[in-house]
Amino acid sequence: MERSRRDDIDAQDRIEVRASGPLEGTVAIGGAKNSVLKLMAACLLTEGTFVIRNVPDIEDVAVMGEVLRSMGVSVSRSDHVLTINRPESVTPEAPYALTEQLRASTAVLGPLLAGIGHARVALPGGDDFGPRPIDMHVAGLEAIGCQFEVSGGDVIATADNLVGNPVLLEYPSVGATENVMMAAVRAKGTTVIDNAAREPEIADLAGFLNHMGGQVAGAGTSTIVVEGVEELHPVEHTAVSDRIEAATFLAALGMAGGEITLVGARPDHMAMLCRKLGDMGVRTSADPDGIWAMCSGRLRSADVSTLPYPGLPTDCKPLLVAMLSVAEGVGIVTENLFSGRFRYVDELVRMGADIRTEGHHAVIRGVDRLSGAPVRASDIRAGAALVVAGLAADGVTLVSDPHHIDRGYEDFTGKLSALGADVRRERPGG
Ligand code: UD1
Repeated sequence: MERSRRDDIDAQDRIEVRASGPLEGTVAIGGAKNSVLKLMAACLLTEGTFVIRNVPDIEDVAVMGEVLRSMGVSVSRSDHVLTINRPESVTPEAPYALTEQLRASTAVLGPLLAGIGHARVALPGGDDFGPRPIDMHVAGLEAIGCQFEVSGGDVIATADNLVGNPVLLEYPSVGATENVMMAAVRAKGTTVIDNAAREPEIADLAGFLNHMGGQVAGAGTSTIVVEGVEELHPVEHTAVSDRIEAATFLAALGMAGGEITLVGARPDHMAMLCRKLGDMGVRTSADPDGIWAMCSGRLRSADVSTLPYPGLPTDCKPLLVAMLSVAEGVGIVTENLFSGRFRYVDELVRMGADIRTEGHHAVIRGVDRLSGAPVRASDIRAGAALVVAGLAADGVTLVSDPHHIDRGYEDFTGKLSALGADVRRERPGG
């Protein structure tokens, strides 16, 4: 007998969500995934023992740990602290089995080229966001003296002499800015990165490099100036707070109502999102502990357009689409960063949302209530958005493939339940 979609979902690890609210209490926001992964890569720059604090216990950090271990680096984790010991010699290769799991593993290119002068990194390929090339990483690194060839699916890069030079990025790519910054820190002379990405995680990485003895100025603005230095040393560092995790709990509050405090969240890194949420009916204000937030009554629709920082993060888009699907009125969402990234929309429609997509746009007519359904997480943020949607859905929402959520969220269901949400993780046989 043919198995139904429902049977398949029942047999798997999943998250079960019921209508919830109001939420109440405090939730601790962890260190930023998108910062920690790059800080880990930066440890390849020089020999010695690094300590990174405020590290979330998530799968992507575990995979990046494997990438470093495969190169001969020792990595140990305990209680949100990573200790990374980079020996004198490392194998500068990242295999496909790891890079295909973690696109951010391409962040090892810059530090390997600067630290060793050679790197072989398997190209990670596309993903649910559509093609995600690394041409800008390559162009930026070439501008400061690296040579590249592609063979057997790997990028093989060498740098005999890194030389400071102007680097004009075609687009403020986060990954390309970071790779060039990490290589330029050891180049001879001055590198000026123009049209640099301005994300807080870039400023965090620049701070890390400067503690190491690097000379990086302007991170957080679109012009970053890196003076190459001859020597770097290992450091201890505390990772910046995760603005996307914080945004996820604000979205949960929007769906369920209530009053919560996000301990450790950085309101200064979330200004555009907080303004948009304010338009939609979620009040936020800076609190000595982080961010205080309150929401009561029905959400209001708004138009949303994703842009590089300080614009609205593309990572928040699925959360905003989930919120708009129950808001009063019609909202138009425009994706400006990635070609795909609307896959979760079909799942929200299965929950009763009224959403039409056309290319980079989605038109969302808010409905009164969603209805619980079996749905599938297709990536980290899409998965989180489906759980959040379930908070405003009648009946039971079963989110399968929650391993995507584990890539970027530590104890997501535990943190939501502690705020009073009716959410639990069901594991096969457990
Ligand atoms: C990072 C984040 C991701 C976030 C994104 C945008 C990590 C691990 N991931 O991804 O969560 O959604 O920033 O804030 O930090 N592009 C090219 N060629 C390149 C590089 C990028 O065409 O060489 C394109 C990408 O396909 C995409 C856009 O530029 O359309 C943005 O990419 P980028 O800012 O580099 O994002 P990531 O670093 O991949």
